[in-house]
Amino acid sequence: MSRSAHPAGPRHADVLPEGRPGGSVPPGDLNTLDPRVWPRTAHRAEDGAVRLGGLDLRRFAEEFGTPAYVLDEEDFRARCRAWREAFGPDADVFYAGKAFLSRAVVRWLREEGLNLDVCSAGELATALDAGMPAERVALHGNNKSGAEIERAVRAGVGRIVLDSFQEIVRVADVAARLGVRQPVQIRATVGVEAHTHEFIATAHEDQKFGLALSDGQAAEAVRRVLGLDSLELLGIHSHIGSQIFDLAGFEVSARRVVGLLREIRDEHGVELPEIDLGGGLGIAYTPDDDPRAPADIAKALREIVARECEAAGLAVPRLSVEPGRAIVGPTAVTLYEVGTVKELEGLRTYVSVDGGMSDNIRTALYDAEYTVALVSRSSSAEPMLSRVVGKHCESGDIVVRDAFLPADLAPGDLIAVPATGAYCRSMASNYNHALRPPVVAVRDGRGRVIVRRETEEDLLRLDVG
Ligand code: LLP
Repeated sequence: MSRSAHPAGPRHADVLPEGRPGGSVPPGDLNTLDPRVWPRTAHRAEDGAVRLGGLDLRRFAEEFGTPAYVLDEEDFRARCRAWREAFGPDADVFYAGKAFLSRAVVRWLREEGLNLDVCSAGELATALDAGMPAERVALHGNNKSGAEIERAVRAGVGRIVLDSFQEIVRVADVAARLGVRQPVQIRATVGVEAHTHEFIATAHEDQKFGLALSDGQAAEAVRRVLGLDSLELLGIHSHIGSQIFDLAGFEVSARRVVGLLREIRDEHGVELPEIDLGGGLGIAYTPDDDPRAPADIAKALREIVARECEAAGLAVPRLSVEPGRAIVGPTAVTLYEVGTVKELEGLRTYVSVDGGMSDNIRTALYDAEYTVALVSRSSSAEPMLSRVVGKHCESGDIVVRDAFLPADLAPGDLIAVPATGAYCRSMASNYNHALRPPVVAVRDGRGRVIVRRETEEDLLRLDVG
């Protein structure tokens, strides 16, 4: 049997898990790069090969090797600007560094007027080393260590987001010892947990983050913080989930946060000046995903907050948000070289690449969906139902579960998986002693390594025998 698409029919339905757009939707022209999923500058040139940032990905592979994350710097900066402009001068956009952080990224953020959310000493060190002013940094985390708190307070971070009663005391003690008044927010658990298309108002409080609104813990945290001279309470923080398309969850969250601000005013006579509605805005991993533009998101969130504040008789506080994925996610692709191509008669073809779950754990961990395209040439061959897998010793080592690739795909071809800018390099591992791939920023026809490829020497340096 030739390596081609399976005809639609019962057999087809048997082998395709339901609802998987990569596999269940008949492919269009496999040479087309859907602009919803690919970085802004990606396009297929006349010669059939894909260019990103003006650079031919075949040249890229020769110069930087594979696997590699190829990051479109122009796209990254444009997305920063879009968020910045959408929220305007009376709001703050904190990029969530956990999605992907490096010194170059910090520099871009600084230049484009964004602030930065960090959640560990390592992220804080990267921010400070690359010259992000400490007052533009927020420190998060449900279990910040004493050393992390001390480092942040000493550096003068603009806010520490308090996550527990113990932490209130810890941060207050460090600030008092250092003779500073540390600005803080309190992370409230608002009773909404949103993921992807829907939001669920159950089981939300059964998780490790924040202090619940419903049982009065958040209000009690406010009481305690207001009673401590070394802490300056700026406002309330809420983060409701990941990969959210429906803004209804934010609406509930904003209403509840503003409700707490009203209670605080009534009880303590103070109007807190800030609220942060967190991150979690979704991106298109496949053409079926339909994310909202930053301008629409900003408009909706501002309106919700303004309306709720008016109803509560409160001045509108300064709003901030923390997008990570929505900024960096769409800006990068992972470039792989095709190795073994194995056809399983009547099932699908397994296309093995030179990376895998060590550079993208999201498919294995969250059942995430991705698309993939042949980028070193175009092809007019039949579509072939494929599963892109890595080289790790584990059958769950899947990068793209169901996708169509051209049936003439051969070892040595280059394929790329788009929308891998967020939570891929930042969650990469050394499983099987894989060497983590580099991140190369492309722009104006040139590539610049911003995080270099790991080497065997790097691995062995940690292994002290
Ligand atoms: N702010 C806070 C407090 C957060 O906890 C997070 C993400 C963000 C902002 C940024 O969320 P984003 O806009 O990037 O969705 N590893 C998972 C995602 C975990 C997100 C954790 N917190 C994934 O790969 O989907």
